[in-house]
Amino acid sequence: MHREEMDEFVEQVNAQSDLLQVVQSYVPLKRKGNRYWGCCPFHGEKTPSFSVVPDKGFFYCFGCHAGGNVFKFLSLIENISYFEAIKLQAEKLGIPMPQRQKSPQELAREREIADLRKVNEMARDFFHNCLTMTRLGEPGKAYFEGRAISAETIEEFKLGFAPNAWDKLSTAFLKRGVKQEYLLSGGLAAERKNGEGVYDRFRNRVMIPIADERGRVVGFGGRVLDDSTPKYLNTPETVIFNKRRILFGLDRAHRAIKNAGFAIVVEGYMDAISVFSAGVKNVVASLGTAFTPEHGKLLLRYAPAIYFCYDSDEAGQKATIRALSIVQGTGADVKVIVVPDGKDPDEYIRKHGAPAFQELVKKALPLVEYRLQYVLKHFAYDTLEGKVKALHAMLPVLSGIREPALLGEYVKRLAQALLLDEGIVRDELRRFSRQPLPLPEAEAPRAPIRQVSRRTDTALQRAGRIAIRLAWQDSGILQHLAAMVPLESIGDKAQREIFLYLQDLAAQGQKTNDIEVADKLSEEAVAELSRAMVEDLGVLSETDAYTKAVGVLRKAYLNLCYIRHSQRAMELSQAGDTGYIEELNKAQQIKTEMEELQLE
Ligand code: UTP
Ligand code: MN
Repeated sequence: MHREEMDEFVEQVNAQSDLLQVVQSYVPLKRKGNRYWGCCPFHGEKTPSFSVVPDKGFFYCFGCHAGGNVFKFLSLIENISYFEAIKLQAEKLGIPMPQRQKSPQELAREREIADLRKVNEMARDFFHNCLTMTRLGEPGKAYFEGRAISAETIEEFKLGFAPNAWDKLSTAFLKRGVKQEYLLSGGLAAERKNGEGVYDRFRNRVMIPIADERGRVVGFGGRVLDDSTPKYLNTPETVIFNKRRILFGLDRAHRAIKNAGFAIVVEGYMDAISVFSAGVKNVVASLGTAFTPEHGKLLLRYAPAIYFCYDSDEAGQKATIRALSIVQGTGADVKVIVVPDGKDPDEYIRKHGAPAFQELVKKALPLVEYRLQYVLKHFAYDTLEGKVKALHAMLPVLSGIREPALLGEYVKRLAQALLLDEGIVRDELRRFSRQPLPLPEAEAPRAPIRQVSRRTDTALQRAGRIAIRLAWQDSGILQHLAAMVPLESIGDKAQREIFLYLQDLAAQGQKTNDIEVADKLSEEAVAELSRAMVEDLGVLSETDAYTKAVGVLRKAYLNLCYIRHSQRAMELSQAGDTGYIEELNKAQQIKTEMEELQLE
């Protein structure tokens, strides 16, 4: 595909995109004049500081400084790259992407993926029909009844049964034209050791279909009916089944996760099914393997918080601590739902009912609290050595606390519990915080959560933004500004970057183009540009605001020059160089101009 073709494609998608409509499909907005306001989807807030100005094609949040155009919005809210956002929007608008010629290998792989999905879907229906419609399914039915799993739940999760026979599925599928090769590579059958043909991988097990987040079946977990082992037999890794990336139940849970603002992660299939059936629908299971950074990333697309609800036995607690360390440092709000007395969520719900479980969710412990309780329970801190170990086990979570008051509280509690001086805890914490973060950047899930930050905002910065806004729309303004204030001298780094970018564009005779900015400018500069475009100018017209702004910027520039010349004069006079007189004269002239500016 050619570069021009691509540009044209992006241009077309942009032209047909309606920023307001896109944003409104995620965030309720209220109109005020030519702008729209809502609560920012990128950080938690109760009063709206997120605004969209459709005429300009930009959004900006005054709280967390997220900002940009329609693609930037999609990339932030869906937690995808800028390019993926363009593709997503093109898909929604039905604009075909210019196609690159695919290699025969790529085509073959795509074909295999599509076929495997199809075969898995057929298998899901096969197992489900076997359970619900045939006599072979009776042991499965009895098993589910014994666990009080209702017919509705069986329907909802399309649960099934793999009959107690060697090749029911294989024979049926081969007859229906499924290639044997797909039965093998999809993990549904294995080759017979002696003799010809294949035999079914899953036999005499209740079957739980596992789907990706878009609801496409990618594998199965099959549970034995008794106490034999392995308890669960799972689809092996295949081209469409990657355990590190799949979360059981996400296809059903993602909307509820978005609405609730958090995801609940449990260990087992049955836990997820029980919790879901108990009406808590924002639940997923991590397939018995450890929770991975990929899992974290997947969940953070939907909500900024993750609650872990693992078994409360020793192994479960260890798994919780491990999972917590995986998501730490992502900015995710992490909590732990503690299930009393060694039970898993499924057993707890069966014994105490759904409302009791919902209460547990409400009482979820913040990460630090959980960690503190865990450390105090698991470390023998009656010796100095034990105290130090316990203290060090707490440092990673403590260093993640951003609110000073909360941190102070935990430092105090830890010091009291360990009978250590608070000063020692603080010193250790300071020493720890200076060390690099334990998780490598590449491993840490990319989180859409942003910190609310109070950026200092001076009159000068406001003036800079007004100038940016007008210069963006009219390169004549940029020329005027550059004559008044050398653009390299602009003090604010993000603003300077924008001005120099605009100057470059103008020099090349190119127009400003908001599709390109996310590519060409730093994140801070994109945010500042967006803010400039959406900011309210009060009663002033754009041109009046600009005139005032240029005055402010010019004054700041003159002030800078004044300081430079005065300093130079001082240096020269100290060195006995008469050149200082000239410098002083220049400084004086500048001062006069500044005073004149003041009078206006
Ligand atoms: P558990 O042993 O806690 O299973 O393993 P569970 O969900 O409570 O099972 P039930 O209630 O006895 O039916 C948790 C998860 O670990 C994986 C499965 O995903 C299981 O749900 N697992 C466990 C396996 O993959 N293979 C096994 O042999 C055991
Ligand atoms: Mn269980």
